[in-house]
Order: sequence, then structure tokens, then C-alpha cells
Amino acid sequence: MQEHLPDGGIIRKLWSGETDAYRDHLQRLDRDSRYRRFSGTVSDEVVARHAATATGLGVVVHGFFVDGLLRGAAELRLEGSVFTHEGEVAFSIEQPWQSHGVGTELLERTLLTARNRGITHLKMQCLANNERMQQLARKFEAGLSFDFGSVVGEVDPPPSSMLSLMREAINDNYGVASAMLEAQSRLFRPL
Ligand SMILES: CC(C)(COP(=O)(O)OP(=O)(O)OC[C@H]1O[C@@H](n2cnc3c(N)ncnc32)[C@H](O)[C@@H]1OP(=O)(O)O)[C@@H](O)C(=O)NCCC(=O)NCCS
Repeated sequence: MQEHLPDGGIIRKLWSGETDAYRDHLQRLDRDSRYRRFSGTVSDEVVARHAATATGLGVVVHGFFVDGLLRGAAELRLEGSVFTHEGEVAFSIEQPWQSHGVGTELLERTLLTARNRGITHLKMQCLANNERMQQLARKFEAGLSFDFGSVVGEVDPPPSSMLSLMREAINDNYGVASAMLEAQSRLFRPL
């Protein structure tokens, strides 16, 4: 299911209690990636405060894990109240794992989740010179509109269906099973 991901990595949703792992991942981003992720320079403290809200209501983070360490993430935030139909997504992939299809897989998962949450309008904000992010958004036929040096990619996920709900549930179960297997195999790996 996820065989094509680099280094045997897996993608699953972040669980509550994993905000420290998210903080550490965001703080490990190289300077350029951190700048692109937050559309500007942000300190470690700001990153830590941001990560602490990652498992709150209306936030779903899909993580890309390699050997149990979070190396990439797609953060979906509902905008406004929980009854809202708009959301925003932001991506962060640590440099060695960029350009290996992780962003594509994370966006696919995020779109499915957004669809199943009734989101009809999903924004992606990125700097105008972030070609890779724009290429990624284009793969999913996002309409891009330029605004003061930043790009807002707008995607309209189709409405949820029984099949899309099932696909998300299967992904979630697969994520839990993979995480358990991976943790077990690390226990038995020679030091
Ligand atoms: C932008 C980002 C999310 C893209 O994820 P990724 O895993 O590197 O991208 P993918 O490997 O899935 O590639 C997506 C598309 O981008 C294009 N692409 C890949 N590498 C590229 C490169 N080096 N230069 C230009 N375009 C590139 C390709 O069209 C690719 O699709 P394809 O392989 O089907 O042709 C990731 O690089 C990242 O986190 N960067 C730092 C933070 C950031 O920029 N966040 C975005 C703002 S929120």
C-alpha cells in the first residue's frame, strides 16, 4: 500500500500525545524549508507553540515516519468553526526525503480527509518561487491565483461518499498496524 515511499516509510495520522514529535520534526527542517513552510522566518519558540496545537479540534496532521521518526507532515486545519467548509493545508518534509513522492502521497491523504470532513474549499499557501509546491498542487488540478508574492492554491474536493469514508478508515487501520509492526521490528533489530 505504501511500498513506494522512500526508506520503507509509512504515512499515518498523528496521535494525540505526538505534538513533541511534530515540534522536533518542524525544528529539524533546514532553514530554507522552514522558511517555505511558514512563509517567513520563525523562531524555535514559535514553531514549538504552533506544534503544540497540532492535535486540537479541527486539526488533522498526516505524518510520514521513517524508523519511528517523523520526517514529513501535512497539516490540515479547518478554518473558523467545526461547521465550516473551508480548510488550509501546509506541508513540511525534511530535506533528504523531498522529491521522493512523499508530498504527493500526503496531499492525496489530506484531500481524502478534507473530503470526508465536508470541506469544499481547501487553501494551500506558498511562496511564489516555491515551484515544487506549485507543481505538487497542479498534480491535483488546483487552481492557482497569485496574491502579493504568495500563491494560494485552491482545491475543491468532491463530496464524501461511503467509499471515501471507507478508504480513510482503511488507511487509519493500516497506519496503526504499520506503526505497531515497525515498533516491533525496531525492538528486534541488532544495535
Ligand atoms: C513542497 C513539498 C511539500 C513537496 O513535496 P515533495 O515530497 O518534495 O514533492 P513530490 O516528490 O511529491 O513531488 C511533487 C511534484 O513536484 C515536482 N518536483 C519534484 N521535485 C522537484 C524539484 N526538485 N524541482 C521542481 N519540481 C519538483 C514534480 O512535478 C513532482 O511531481 P512528479 O514527481 O509526479 O513529477 C516539500 O518539498 C517540502 O516540504 N518543502 C519544504 C516546505 C515547503 O515548501 N512547504 C510548502 C509550503 S506549505
